[in-house]
Amino acid sequence: YKQLDDFPKNFLWGAASAAYQIEGGFDADGKGPSIWDVYAHQPGNTFKGTTGDVAIDHYHHMAEDVALMAKMGLKAYRFSVAWSRVIPDGDGAVNEAGLDFYRRLIKALKQNDIEPVLTLYHWDLPQALQDKYNGWESRQVIPAFEKYCRTLFEAFKDDVKYWVTFNEQNVFTGMGYRWGNHPPKVQDTKRMFAANHIINLANATAINLFHQLVPDGMIGPSFGYGPVYPLTGAPEDVLAAVNADDFNNNWWLDVYCRGEYPYFERKALTRAELMPEVTAADDALLKSAKPDFLGINYYHGGTVQQNRLEKPVKAGDAKEFSATDPYLMQPKAEQAQSPEVPMFNAVSNPYLAKTAWGWEIDPVGFRVGLRQVYEKYRLPLFVTENGLGALDELKDGEIDDSYRIDYLQDHLKTMKEAITDGVDMIGYCAWSFTDLLSWLNGYKKRYGFVYVDRDDDGPKDLKRIPKKSFYWYRDIIKQNGAQI
Ligand code: BG6
Repeated sequence: YKQLDDFPKNFLWGAASAAYQIEGGFDADGKGPSIWDVYAHQPGNTFKGTTGDVAIDHYHHMAEDVALMAKMGLKAYRFSVAWSRVIPDGDGAVNEAGLDFYRRLIKALKQNDIEPVLTLYHWDLPQALQDKYNGWESRQVIPAFEKYCRTLFEAFKDDVKYWVTFNEQNVFTGMGYRWGNHPPKVQDTKRMFAANHIINLANATAINLFHQLVPDGMIGPSFGYGPVYPLTGAPEDVLAAVNADDFNNNWWLDVYCRGEYPYFERKALTRAELMPEVTAADDALLKSAKPDFLGINYYHGGTVQQNRLEKPVKAGDAKEFSATDPYLMQPKAEQAQSPEVPMFNAVSNPYLAKTAWGWEIDPVGFRVGLRQVYEKYRLPLFVTENGLGALDELKDGEIDDSYRIDYLQDHLKTMKEAITDGVDMIGYCAWSFTDLLSWLNGYKKRYGFVYVDRDDDGPKDLKRIPKKSFYWYRDIIKQNGAQI
């Protein structure tokens, strides 16, 4: 028999982006400021003070970018809508010019047979909602989000089938409310859990509304997922991994897919007085909302050992608190309020190589993760991000990013193995189509199939140049992955 199954016939080979990271046009045609517009302008918050004011100016290069997608043969394009472009003050009047930008984008995609995958929230909350209500710490943002979602559902329900509610809720709540290196720059574990609960309610509200208004569509959240490994077979390390899986993954996934918080962590947070207030109505709302698929953003997993804070950590084992790797952050010893502190330590995995930014490269973990999540929740999976951040160099007008091809090839292989295992997969969106702004690393950490001529000092001519990986991915798509 054949070693590997074929990719499904209508598999959505795609690429992804996010509004703040590509659009620019930060105040064009009536757009209101988002929390990222404000945060990136405050000194010291981002790498070399880079902002998304211009980004790669996709707002004014949209037609050119879609033409490149068509040239590549892309089957799907995942993008996010900037809430404050559509509703500048968050919950007031709709800005028709802003809505029209997305209308034109969707039309251009459809004309080229590219399936739009629309993310409702990729981290850029309207600043007005932060100012008026204190952002996600207030339940008043839920009706604002509902109104924004209704506007988009009604505008695009006939043209957009796939919708993502929140991008990496686990990452933006951690960075924004716990580690304090994303807006609103809060460092308070209790407030993080409280804001996270409110976002869960917003997520459930959006899903229920969607099912009323767009019965033929599919909606789900995109989660920043990584499987957790124990460093050794010591039972203490295995227990640490069970706990870390709860704190890093299940805390979100169980709510999305089962409509309830995981039992043991709920108890642990209650004992630590960190559990947010959850009313009976909240529980009922979470239970009622069922996503149609689960979006998975996969970069790498995590490895943990039993907590050795009391004892010296073996040299090389300890993972330093990293300011730019959202998937590996862990509370420092002094953050004793967190119940995770005695439960596990994140450590480097001795078997894995790392990218230039210290992110582990783990294609097998991709298969492990897809298998585990599908086994547990039995929802179709849609890989909404996966890719390699690298320092690409333009030489004689070309970019030879063979290392990216290797990285993607290895991940596509293990994804194909997961499909052969039986995982139901809708599609795969590589991160990213063009180079774009990395939230905390500026423009030099590149992910795209298409190089954009700009750097941290300025936009230059913003010329688009397909990299070697562009042509490689075009061929993969053409053959529906048969060569993998
Ligand atoms: C994901 C985000 O966390 O990772 C993207 O959804 C982000 O928006 C991507 O760009 C890569 O992260 P980074 O920090 O390398 O840009």
